[in-house]
Amino acid sequence: MRPTLDDLEILARQAGVLLRAGYGRAHTIASKSHAIDLVTETDRRSEAFLLESIRRRWPGHSILAEESGAHDGDAHRWYVDPLDGTVNFAHGVPIFSVSIAYAEAGVVQLGVVYDPMRDECFAAGRGQGAFLNGQPLRVSATASLAKALLVTGFPYDTWTNPDNNLDHFARFAVRSHGVRRLGSAALDLCYVAAGRFDGYWEIRLKPWDVAAGGLIAAEAGALVTNLQGGEDYLSPPQSIVAANAALHAQMLAVLRGEA
Ligand code: IPD
Ligand code: CA
Ligand code: CA
Repeated sequence: MRPTLDDLEILARQAGVLLRAGYGRAHTIASKSHAIDLVTETDRRSEAFLLESIRRRWPGHSILAEESGAHDGDAHRWYVDPLDGTVNFAHGVPIFSVSIAYAEAGVVQLGVVYDPMRDECFAAGRGQGAFLNGQPLRVSATASLAKALLVTGFPYDTWTNPDNNLDHFARFAVRSHGVRRLGSAALDLCYVAAGRFDGYWEIRLKPWDVAAGGLIAAEAGALVTNLQGGEDYLSPPQSIVAANAALHAQMLAVLRGEA
């Protein structure tokens, strides 16, 4: 049975209640792959809730979830980031989200990103448009990089890997109105969908970071590709650029070192 967008929204809002309950409380913070790759008990609680809920109603579906990895099943696949923005959350910065996407045969069909601190629920179904709390979303029409406000993020191996996006950041910082670092890739994409940011790029993300937000941005009119301009931004080596078509072309040129 196919889930509906309402099903995803209900799940994201319920997980959001767990995030809000954990926010601001003393918590155990553990490091994962790198010193700055954090996980709290709230990430785990939210993920356990989402996995159990999905399995109960859609047994047999595959799930790729950040904290527990791949749960193989049939060709229906869920992408779950139970708390996108863990570093913010752990430091008491109220910018984080829950991200849930649903794909069939490798194509994302539904995506929801919920910000529990602002009660903002971003949602999109393929071919059905993108919405924020039920209101239609549209990307900005800013066609010039010199007038654009951008957002990006940095990988967790930034301390040790020189391919860490700081070069791109520096180049965009002197060619745009500014570059923000919000700390939740899922929200970055939704803010592009809402026209709050004009463009977004990032490298070395994971599918659960961008599966829902990528569809939401695309359904709001963004061109969403990898840094090479190809349409696959979910498979490794992952990278993503999202903006209206005119700005997207200028961003790719900067990322290629041509502008
Ligand atoms: C992170 C956030 C951040 C991005 C990182 C992601 P997490 O996800 O989306 O904005 O820059 O690369 O890993 O670990 O908070 O779920
Ligand atoms: Ca994430
Ligand atoms: Ca996460």
